Parts: sequence; structure tokens; C-alpha cells
Amino acid sequence: MHTASAPGKVYLFGEHAVVYGEPAIPCAVERRATVTVEGRDDGRLRVDAKDLQIEGFTVEYGATDSGPAVDVSDSLLEAATKYVDGAIEQARDAADAPDAGFDVEVESDIPLGAGLGSSAAVVVATIAAATAELGVDLDAREVADRAYQVELDVQDGQASRADTFCSAMGGAVRVEGDDCRTLSTPDLPFVIGYDGGSGDTGKLVAGVRDLRDRYDFAADTVAAIGDLVREGERLLEQAGEDGGEPDEEALEELGGLMDFDHGLLEALGVSARSLDDMVWTARESGALGAKLTGAGGGGCIVALDPTDGTETALTYESSCEQVFRAELATEGVRIE
Ligand code: MEV
Repeated sequence: MHTASAPGKVYLFGEHAVVYGEPAIPCAVERRATVTVEGRDDGRLRVDAKDLQIEGFTVEYGATDSGPAVDVSDSLLEAATKYVDGAIEQARDAADAPDAGFDVEVESDIPLGAGLGSSAAVVVATIAAATAELGVDLDAREVADRAYQVELDVQDGQASRADTFCSAMGGAVRVEGDDCRTLSTPDLPFVIGYDGGSGDTGKLVAGVRDLRDRYDFAADTVAAIGDLVREGERLLEQAGEDGGEPDEEALEELGGLMDFDHGLLEALGVSARSLDDMVWTARESGALGAKLTGAGGGGCIVALDPTDGTETALTYESSCEQVFRAELATEGVRIE
């Protein structure tokens, strides 16, 4: 039996634009998906989704079945099976063991589809645990690469490497097309507000693609996000030593860029009333900056605030169901 875990993430800058080759800077945060895998002899796959912040359920199916017959909505089923299925396929491929069967238990404290990289974390942790179970030692970059292939497949070719690379490597990373690097960053004071909902990544990405194809000014907006990320990267370099106290001025300017990024994402139609409410509450209560994180449409915002102001204010914001401070997860995927 092998267990692996991998962190979720917030986007400091650059979601959506990263799909079109612009750079993005996601940061891993200490909310993890933990996956335990045990080999079985009959070639079947049993997935037990214990806690995906949805009601847990168990499905069991084999390669020849048309699919698991359980009474849950398609999107939940997809969450529990498609990503895990893809991850198991990658592990079988890495170990050259096409018929390997597994019991898979998934536990996660990352809200599902809320912009915190839940699916990437589950895929990364599953690949790591299943390859370990098959006696294969993949390094984090190989896990990231295989996890990206899974996301690409499940999301109909519409995914960047950002979520999976960040979850596998941990810390702050920079992703631009296939160029993926780790970045050094001071300790950033992230506060996350969660509206209790989620967005449909596929639909939101497709919506931005349509706008970008239809209007030059939407394409310019995507390019402007890329410019903003390059500026943000320069600032992050100045903001302080890796893991150290951030420089106040640089932090303020980073916050300003987060506000700008949220505005551009809103212009691209991927925000939501609840996300805007939380963003404005954060800004009005002393956050240095606030923006939606991930695909949008619902889910989470991330604010930068070294004080208690944002956390306290979001507790009273009716659009906010949960608020928490998120430490940077310096460790990516790990075998437990
Ligand atoms: C989703 O977490 C982030 C998007 O940029 C899509 C992707 O990068 O694959 C919207």
C-alpha cells in the first residue's frame, strides 16, 4: 500500500491567459489531496472518494465495463473517476503494467472545482502513489508531465501545465507554454475566500476562447494579462528572500497588480457576483490586492493581507461561505 499527497494552489497571476501561451504564476498552498493506492490482482479499479468536500461515495468498475453505475450527478462522477482513471492509466504506462488493478482511496481538503487546483492535486497524488505501488520511482517533473497529459485529455485539449506543475513541484512556479520553472518567493500573506460554489472550467475556458477569436480587444486583454504577469515576476524577485519576510512596498505593488488582473479577468467574463463581492470586501478591509483564482465562475478569491482585516471582514460577507489563511506549500508531491 502506498500513499502520496499533493497541494492545491492559488494563481497569483495569469490564469486563462496561460492557456494561450502567456506566462502565469501559481503558488501551491497547504491544502492537500491525499491518495492511498493498493494493488489488486483482478485488474479492476475501485475508487473510494472519501472526502472531496462532497458526500463521499465508492465506485467499482473494470476496463470492459461501460462505466460505473452509481446514483450521483455526472460532474461528481467525473470528478471521482475521469481524473483518477487517467492518472491510473499514466501509472500503468510508466510501469509498463497495462493490466494492473488498484483500490484507490482519495481524501482531499481542497474544495472541488473552486479554483484551488483540486483535480490537479488528485491526479498528481494518484500518479505518485500508483507508480510507487508498482515499484517505479518518478521524479516530480515526470509526475507533473504525466498529470498534465491527464488534464489535457479530460479537459478536451484545453489545459495549461500550470496547475499540475505547481502541485507537483510546490512553492511558486512560472509556467509559459512548455517552459515550467520554480520561483523563489517570500512568504506571501494569502487569505482565501470561498463562496461555496464552483465554476465549469471547460465552459469558462471555451468562453474566453470565443471572445478572443471574435474580438481583437479580447485578444489584447489576454496579452495584457501576460504583460502584467511579467511585471509581477519582476516584483516577486524584488519582494524578498525565498521563505523570508516580504518587502512592504513590493507587496503593495503586487497587490495592485492582483487588482488589475481581476479587472482583466472580469472583462473576459469569468468572474461572478459572489467573487466580485468577496474581492471588494477584501479590498475595502485593508487587503493589498484581491482577485479570483482559477477558472472563475464561482469558487475562490485570493487576497494579500498581512493583517486580520480581510479574514474578519470576509467572515461577515454574505457571499463568503468559508475564509482561511493559506500558507505557501513549499513541498509539492510527496510519498507519505
Ligand atoms: C484553471 O485552474 C486555470 C485555467 O487557466 C485553465 C488552465 O490553465 O488549464 C483557467
